[in-house]
Amino acid sequence: MSRIAYVNGRYVRHSEAAVSIDDRAFLFADGIYEVIEIFGGKLIDEAGHLERLNRSARELLLKLPVGERVLKLILRELVARNGVAYGHVYLQVTRGAARRDHFFPKAGTPTTLVAFAHRSDRAAAEAKAQAGIKVISVPDIRWKRPDIKSTSLLPNVLAKQQAKDFGAYEAWLVDEEGFVTEGSSSNAWIVDADGALVTHPADSGILRGITRARLFEIAAAHQIRIVERRFTVVEAKAAREAFITGATTLVMPVVAIDGEKIGGGAPGPVALGLRAAFHGFAPASE
Ligand code: PDD
Repeated sequence: MSRIAYVNGRYVRHSEAAVSIDDRAFLFADGIYEVIEIFGGKLIDEAGHLERLNRSARELLLKLPVGERVLKLILRELVARNGVAYGHVYLQVTRGAARRDHFFPKAGTPTTLVAFAHRSDRAAAEAKAQAGIKVISVPDIRWKRPDIKSTSLLPNVLAKQQAKDFGAYEAWLVDEEGFVTEGSSSNAWIVDADGALVTHPADSGILRGITRARLFEIAAAHQIRIVERRFTVVEAKAAREAFITGATTLVMPVVAIDGEKIGGGAPGPVALGLRAAFHGFAPASE
C-alpha cells in the first residue's frame, strides 16, 4: 500500500505530495502544526489538539482553510487510507503561497493545508520507555511565544541534534534564570521528594501540551499531586524521578540529565505507572 498524504483538498501519493516554493512556511516558517497519536486506529485527544490548532491560528492571525468537521474527516481518511493502527498524524497550516514579501499575502490568498500519517514501532517505543531516555540541558534561545505551535522550530531542532550528539534523546531548555521550561519537543517533569509531580506553569514560556493536560486527570485519579512551578536543572538532577510528555513519546521516563543519573539510573514507578495508565484516560476518536 503506498502512503497517501493530503494537500489542499486532494489525496495524493506521499512521495508526490508537494507545495509551492513560494509557500510562506517554506520561506518564513509562517505556519502552525499539530501531531496527534494514532492508537488502535483511533485519534487520541483529537479535540484538544484541534482546539490548540485553532488557538495557534488565532494568535498568528491565520485562517484555517477548512472547518473542524472537514478537518476531522481528513484525519480519519488519512488513518484509513494509510491503514495506520499505531502511529501519528501530522497536520500543518501555512499562510499560503505568495510572492516573497514579509507583509502578509493579500486578503483572500488561500492558506495551505497539508496532512499525512505515519506508522510507529510500538514495541520499540515500549522498549525505550522501559530503558528510559537521557536528556541534556541547553539554553532556551527560542522566541517569547513558544505557547504557539508554530513550524518555526530551528532552536528546537538544534537542541535536539545537540542531544543526539551527546548520546541523549531530548534536550531540556533552560531559561535565563536557570529554570527548565520544557523539552525541545516535549514537556518536562520531575517527581519531588514528597512524590508530587512538578512541571513548569503553562504560561507563554512553554507549549501547553495536550499530553501534559491529560496527566492532570490521571494524576488526580491516582491521588498524585501536581505542582505547577518552575524547577532548576540542579533540582531535577536530585529528583526522585524525571520524565517527559508528548504525543510522540507519551510519558517517557528520564534516567539521566547531562550524564548524571536520576533515581538510580532506571525508570521510576511513577513515570511508568502514568505511562501505563495513559490510554485508559485519553479519549480516542469514534
Ligand atoms: N511536539 N513542547 C514542545 C516544544 C513540543 O514540540 C511538544 C510536542 C510538546 C508536547 O505537546 P503534546 O503533548 O501536545 O504533544 C511540548 C510534537 C509531538 C512534535 O513537535 O513532534
